[in-house]
Amino acid sequence: MKYIEVGKTREKLPAIGIGTWQLDPNSKDSINAIRASIESGSNFVDTAEAYRNEQMVGKAIKEYDDIFLATKVWPTHFRHDKIIKACDQSLERLGRKYIDLYQLHWPNPKVSMDETMSAMEKLVDDGKIRHIGVSNFSVEQLRKAQNSLKKYEVVSNQVEYSIMAREYEKDLLPYCQENGITLIAYSPLGHGKFFTRKNKAMPVIQELAKKHDKTPAQIALNWLISRSNVSAIPKAGSIDHVKQNIDAANFQISSSDLTELDQAISAMNFKTMKQKYGWLISFVLRLV
Ligand SMILES: NC(=O)c1ccc[n+]([C@@H]2O[C@H](COP(=O)([O-])OP(=O)(O)OC[C@H]3O[C@@H](n4cnc5c(N)ncnc54)[C@H](OP(=O)(O)O)[C@@H]3O)[C@@H](O)[C@H]2O)c1
Repeated sequence: MKYIEVGKTREKLPAIGIGTWQLDPNSKDSINAIRASIESGSNFVDTAEAYRNEQMVGKAIKEYDDIFLATKVWPTHFRHDKIIKACDQSLERLGRKYIDLYQLHWPNPKVSMDETMSAMEKLVDDGKIRHIGVSNFSVEQLRKAQNSLKKYEVVSNQVEYSIMAREYEKDLLPYCQENGITLIAYSPLGHGKFFTRKNKAMPVIQELAKKHDKTPAQIALNWLISRSNVSAIPKAGSIDHVKQNIDAANFQISSSDLTELDQAISAMNFKTMKQKYGWLISFVLRLV
């Protein structure tokens, strides 16, 4: 397993973990998928209060000692007392004493960042969370979040990043790399659409897959984590997919092959979820 650093903490984070959005909270298969990911060599599990599956995730990881558990608080809970309450409720559902990485799920311009971050710092002081992260934050929002913290640092920003969605390469990825912030890539397989859409890069990907005796998904994930400071959290329901995904962090593509792949995919750029639906989430947040 390739490891990267959690922010600037020197703590190790697997370059590939498991995302749990849309893993059925009531299915044993979901528990088995999470356990297969851990057994395959990655202790990094990502969930969110909004996924309504924290209880299931807690059950899946219960027997393991050394898990790096990330969850998220939804923006309607960003006021000071609401964050504290939301965190307590997540801890209860997860059956844990602390959360390793607590992330602000989506920016909420209606709540002052200073208020939100003072609650996040209290949670660290109280031992309920170990690290503070954000998600779907632009460079400007990330700077604001960093400036609102007095004692601790933002260690990560979780955004959509894949071979199909490279919007953040323009500014956010370089900013994270320069400032020691881990970029957690969500939807790293383009929501699974990557395999079904016709795209010009597929022949190159297939050729590389054959050369390394890997699948196209593994090539796509390996390309992603070849960037510094990037960890990916593919969601997989099938055990075979889970194992493939974790194994994607166990090999290296040569730099000349990576360059060829880079050129092949440069023509593709699909819209991220934030580009498509960000306006709708911001609009709804303004109403609540
Ligand atoms: N912070 C945010 O706002 C945010 C937003 C979206 C997602 N996320 C996080 O990111 C995680 C992943 O994103 P996502 O679920 O949108 O998309 P994704 O991981 O890019 O794609 C998931 C799809 O790919 C398929 N798949 C997984 N591994 C595969 C493999 N090796 N070969 C072929 N197909 C494979 C899965 O199928 P099977 O299920 O059948 O295996 C599923 O249909 C989420 O679970 C969540 O934790 C965060």
